[in-house]
Amino acid sequence: PDDAVEELRRKRAEAELGGGEARIESQHEKGKMTARERIDFLVDDGTFNEVDPFVEHRSTNFGMEEKRFAGDAVVTGYGEVDGRKVFLFAHDFTVLGGSVGEVVADKICKVMDKAIENGVPVIGLNDSGGARIQEGVDSLVGFAKIFERNTKASGLIPQISAIMGPCAGGATYSPALTDFTFMVQDTSHMFITGPDVIETVTGEQVSKEELGGAGSHSTKSGVAHFSYPSEEEALENIRRLLSYLPANNMEDPPRVKPWDDPDREIPEVTDIVPSAPRKPYDMTKVIDSIVDEESFFEVHGNWARNVVIGFSRLDGQSVGVVANQPRVSAGTLDIDAAEKAARFVRFCDSFNIPILTLVDVPGFMPGTDQEHNGIIRRGAKLIYAYAEATVPLLSVVVRKAYGGAYIVMSSKFLGSDVNYAWPGSEMAVLGPRGAVNILYRNEIADADDPDAKRQELMDEFRDEFANPYGPAKRGYLDDVIEPKDTRKRLIQDLDLLGRKREDTPPKDHGNIPL
Ligand code: COA
Repeated sequence: PDDAVEELRRKRAEAELGGGEARIESQHEKGKMTARERIDFLVDDGTFNEVDPFVEHRSTNFGMEEKRFAGDAVVTGYGEVDGRKVFLFAHDFTVLGGSVGEVVADKICKVMDKAIENGVPVIGLNDSGGARIQEGVDSLVGFAKIFERNTKASGLIPQISAIMGPCAGGATYSPALTDFTFMVQDTSHMFITGPDVIETVTGEQVSKEELGGAGSHSTKSGVAHFSYPSEEEALENIRRLLSYLPANNMEDPPRVKPWDDPDREIPEVTDIVPSAPRKPYDMTKVIDSIVDEESFFEVHGNWARNVVIGFSRLDGQSVGVVANQPRVSAGTLDIDAAEKAARFVRFCDSFNIPILTLVDVPGFMPGTDQEHNGIIRRGAKLIYAYAEATVPLLSVVVRKAYGGAYIVMSSKFLGSDVNYAWPGSEMAVLGPRGAVNILYRNEIADADDPDAKRQELMDEFRDEFANPYGPAKRGYLDDVIEPKDTRKRLIQDLDLLGRKREDTPPKDHGNIPL
């Protein structure tokens, strides 16, 4: 028996070397960790249990029988993050470039199935040349199996992807189907077709980095939710993200022991938000004041910055925050902002995370670019997301809410539970200038002094609409609250809404405008 144990140890040690010392060294030279190093860094010490370390591919095409490695090109298993279970798979670039053949896909599917069955989040660490060329259609079928599970898992368990090397072609669609994608600057790239193919087909020349580096995907395409300078920082922030999330859709998010006074008054917000309706300010400062100290964790922080989304805590309870950002494009909603916020609202709704919406929005972004790219159908996603949400929804109008954007931003009759406004805030169909130019076009044109007439009419309009009492009189706002009391009131409401139950008639699924 001792010999048998020795043999097991020897085989395991061999499997743990993946593609061998030289390949490991070359991985390190590129500034990358190996698959196992990444897993070790991510999970709590000593908690990782590997599954399928001895699986080998069966291919004999193109001399593949000479290239067999125990475990093949992916490391899979389960471990713990802050004492909570997670399933993991990490492509091993040292084995055949981390390429995905039949058994690699089957290994990944095995842990995904376990994650779904047991209600445990799944984390994928991607570093792969994509579909294994030698295995032909078997490799493509492997991706189809993974995508099918990504879709099945969506809304049941949180799925997190980190891109830590190449991720090209069909392989990109697994991360795209998951809830959050992390990228590492300089060493990770994602694209459907690489620079060479692009040049051959369209003649366009572009570098790998410009095309699909962390910078492009976290600022231009929105494919990456997070971008970090090192693998370590990316992995640390996966841990942080998990701390806000429940393990599955049947659980509530973990409530941490509160460290910030729930009754804390926040008079400083009055200095942050200027009363002049068009003056810019940084909405993240308002969020930081309201939520538990240091708890705001921004998502998609560098893309569609006219809207801010992220996780935070109120008295230790996880909440999702959606807020207009007057510092960028005056906080208008455009296509990217609507899609960014909509997907976040749907994530929170799937996973029982209440949503706090802070409103200061002048309207939707005007222009042919927006109209022709479909702001009507794409902006509709945000309405759909709020209207279908059954988690507690709380909103505060901090300065203004005009037109369609008023409706979209968690207004009362989209199903919001608690709607507040600060005194001095305004809600109307249009801003004063736009409104009087339409209502009084002739009067202004015929006036002796059109500018003075316009100003007079604008002042009248403001008196009527530039305060929250119109909507408050109709019950569209539940109350007008002093800014300093915002944190306290929201915490009290959240405490009550924790008991909220809402039933919707069963259906296969709705048809969100995509
Ligand atoms: N199938 C089979 N083997 C692959 C592979 C794939 N899709 N991608 C990479 N490999 C192998 C390489 O042949 C190489 O093997 P070798 O060292 O035994 O010769 C090893 O993995 C490492 O790849 P290499 O090209 O040396 O690494 P790199 O860092 O220079 O480049 C890539 C990495 C991913 C950019 C490059 O390998 C590539 O373009 N691969 C093909 C990507 C692709 O089109 N995949 C199909 C998408 S669906």
